[in-house]
Amino acid sequence: MDSSSSILILVGSPRRDGNSALLARAVEAGARDAGLAPRLRFLDDYISGFLGDRTPSSELPADRYGELFLEEFLPAAGVVFCTPIYWYGMSAQTKAFFDRSFAYYSGTYPHHADVMERMQGKRLALTLASEESYPGAGLGIVHQVQEFARYSHSAFVGYVHGAGNRRGEVARDPRDPVGAARRLGAELLRRPYTDYRIDTPRSHDVWDAAA
Ligand SMILES: Cc1cc2nc3c(=O)[nH]c(=O)nc-3n(C[C@H](O)[C@H](O)[C@H](O)COP(=O)(O)O)c2cc1C
Repeated sequence: MDSSSSILILVGSPRRDGNSALLARAVEAGARDAGLAPRLRFLDDYISGFLGDRTPSSELPADRYGELFLEEFLPAAGVVFCTPIYWYGMSAQTKAFFDRSFAYYSGTYPHHADVMERMQGKRLALTLASEESYPGAGLGIVHQVQEFARYSHSAFVGYVHGAGNRRGEVARDPRDPVGAARRLGAELLRRPYTDYRIDTPRSHDVWDAAA
């Protein structure tokens, strides 16, 4: 399968059998349903430190972040971040994923121009798991990923927020976030996405009435 259909699913919780992992497995199953090639990774397996003072790769933490970023994130057509809500923000693991990328697009990295080019044009999505069910709990994260997408000329195509505290409890959320995560995985690369400016040419109808 070529990289135009590759999906990367990143779990930002330390709990392998937790709610973020459950939502991530649902995204993975949906992507498989759609004939895509999902890869699910736990950030804890790749990241063991923060961005350092200096960025040459010889001074980076000795972990597997470079492998994840260069070999899996850059080639992916779609990336889904699956994070628990920690203090109304994303987990430290998830935030470190974004921060550590700086080492590869800063001018001191020899292939930085290539990296910057390959960071663009992705389809991005998010799953959130939290104890609280009110929608505002996750909006800071939604906004942050939206800004990352805007900055990187990517498309933030959707997010799912489920409530649960005990491991796997999100499956009992009556709003069915697990089903929504499965649909998100299936539709990641084809879900309609629009973001207009005042002068964007468009038809008055949003959806094709015949469809
Ligand atoms: C450090 C920490 C901070 C948390 N902060 C919040 C919070 O601000 N709001 C909330 O609703 N739940 C909060 N929770 C609860 C988790 O979001 C919830 O248990 C979630 O289902 C965990 O996902 P996981 O199973 O993928 O680890 C927090 C949990 C931890 C451990």
